[in-house]
Amino acid sequence: MPYNCGHENLMSGISILGLEGTAWNLSAAIVDEDDVVVENTATYKPPTGGIHPREAAQHHANHIAGVIRKTLEKRRGRINAVAFSMGPGLGPCLRTVATAARALALSLDAPLIGVNHCIAHIEVGIWKTPAHDPVALYVSGANSQVLSYRAGHYRVFGETLDIGIGNALDKFARSAGLSHPGGPKVEELAKHATQYIKLPYTVKGMDFSFSGLATAAHEASRKYPLPDVCHSFQETAFAMLVEVTERAVAHTGKSEVLLAGGVGANSRLREMLGVMCNDRGIGFYVPEKRFMGDNGAMIAYLGLLMYKSGYRTEIPDSKVNPDYRPDDAVVTWR
Ligand code: ATP
Ligand code: FE2
Repeated sequence: MPYNCGHENLMSGISILGLEGTAWNLSAAIVDEDDVVVENTATYKPPTGGIHPREAAQHHANHIAGVIRKTLEKRRGRINAVAFSMGPGLGPCLRTVATAARALALSLDAPLIGVNHCIAHIEVGIWKTPAHDPVALYVSGANSQVLSYRAGHYRVFGETLDIGIGNALDKFARSAGLSHPGGPKVEELAKHATQYIKLPYTVKGMDFSFSGLATAAHEASRKYPLPDVCHSFQETAFAMLVEVTERAVAHTGKSEVLLAGGVGANSRLREMLGVMCNDRGIGFYVPEKRFMGDNGAMIAYLGLLMYKSGYRTEIPDSKVNPDYRPDDAVVTWR
C-alpha cells in the first residue's frame, strides 16, 4: 500500500460540530469517532450574585460567532451534522444557541441534531471512561439526578425535589459572602473544619431536596465557623446523594457508577462514592475534569451517536425546551 499520512482516513470519518450554551458556559467543539478534534469556550461570569439568564444569553450572543469561527478553522474535512443542546437550561440562553445552530446547519448544508444536555453529560462519561452501562449520578448547578439506561430510555431513579446541589452550594456560599461559583470555595474551606454540625438530611423515597439544607447552613454560619458549616453541608448533601445512588445500584443490579456534572469535580463527593462502590465491589468512574462541567464536546459526541443511529432534527422541530427531561428522550443509539 502506498504511504499516506492518514488524511484520507480522517476525511472519511464522521465529524460533528456541537454547541453548548444552556447556562454559563458557551462552547463549540468538533468530535470524530476517535476523539475531540477542537473545542473553544467563552465563559460568562456574573459581575455580582448568580447567573442572570438574560445577561448570560447576551454574553452568548456576543461571543458565539467568534467561538464557532475559531472552531471551524480547525476542522478536518466535512462537518456531517450540527448538534446543539435543546434543553434543559435557561430559556434565553438555549434560544440564542439554537438560533446559531440552525443558521450554521443551513450554511454548512448539514443536518441538525437536538440533544438532551443531561444525557450528553452521561454519554461523554461513558466514552471517556471504561464504563459501559452505569448508574449515573449527574450533579450540576441546576440538576441533580440518579439515572440509568433501561429499555429505550434513560430512567430517572431519583432526583432533587427543589434545587440542584450546585445551586444549593452556590446559594449558601453567596449568603456567606463567597463569590460565584461557590462549590469550589466550599470544598476548600471544608478542609479546615474541626467539627460536624447537624444539618437537615432530606431523602424522600428515592428523591432528595437541598433548599432546606442551604437555608439551615446559612443560619448555622451565623453561629459556627464557616469551615465547619462548609464541611457539614458537604457531608450531609453528599451522603444523601450516595444513599440514593447506592439504592439505584441495588435496584438495577448494575455494576458501575459514573459521576457526571460540574459538582463531580468535588474530591470529597468522589471519595464517598468511591467508598460505597468499593464496599459493593463495583466499578466507579469519573471522566477527566474538562468533560464534567458543561462542554461542547459532550454535545458533539451525543450528536455523533444520534447521527450514526439515523436521528435528525428537522428545523420546524428544533424548538428548545427549558424543561427537557432526560427520560423524555428516546435513545436511538443503543
Ligand atoms: P447544568 O446546566 O447541567 O445544570 P451547570 O450550568 O450548572 O450545568 P456545571 O458546569 O455542570 O454547569 O456545574 C456547575 C456547578 O458545579 C456550580 O454550581 C459549581 O459551584 C459546581 N462546582 C464546580 N466545582 C465544584 C467543586 N469542586 N465542588 C462542588 N461544586 C462544584
Ligand atoms: Fe450541565
